[in-house]
Amino acid sequence: MVTSLEDNIRVFLHINNFSDSQHQDLSRVAALVLPHIPRITDEFYQRLASEPLTARYIEGRLEGLKNTHTQWLESLFKAQIDGDFFENQLRIGRTHVCAQIPPLFVAGSMSFLRSVFPSIIEKETGNAEGAGAISGAILKTLDLCHYLIDHAYEQDRLSRITGATGLSRPLLENLIALKQRA
Ligand code: HEM
Repeated sequence: MVTSLEDNIRVFLHINNFSDSQHQDLSRVAALVLPHIPRITDEFYQRLASEPLTARYIEGRLEGLKNTHTQWLESLFKAQIDGDFFENQLRIGRTHVCAQIPPLFVAGSMSFLRSVFPSIIEKETGNAEGAGAISGAILKTLDLCHYLIDHAYEQDRLSRITGATGLSRPLLENLIALKQRA
């Protein structure tokens, strides 16, 4: 089934039930969570730097990357979830595609980030019930970013296949949609 990205985002946000009020919860806790972001960023780049396969992508540019990463994490708590937000995640995806960073590394990074926020939110809010909903909101936001970054990788792969084979994009989409033989 081929649908527009706009439709896909709408369906994504419908299925995961990310409401405006849940997103507003994030801006309400921003002042409590943002002071933790430099430490999270340091830990994140420590993980990338200690694995030779990822270290080679970040060598010599650690401070600049930490700055952009910090700004991006802060934006998850402050930005509106709107067209600009979606476009920003797609652009970040395209940047990583251009830098030839395997999507595996982005998936691992997202997993790292999903693991760090719930305990910070629980500790800072001191409210187990409300903390669960706020953690849900940041996890949903990270999932949305991951979906959009992955979309950029998928688009790149499809356009490289059409470029290499000469297949038109609709034909390629139809081939992908073919049912597997039993
Ligand atoms: C959760 C996953 C990640 C996020 C959200 C993220 C976020 C960002 C952002 C916001 C930028 C600035 C680019 C722009 O604004 O267009 C950036 C650039 C970059 N990131 Fe990531 N990053 C992630 C994972 C990684 C990983 C795993 C690596 C390497 C192993 C990496 C290496 C780089 C490099 C090298 C650039 C600069 C690319 C260039 O300017 O050519 N990132 N990243």
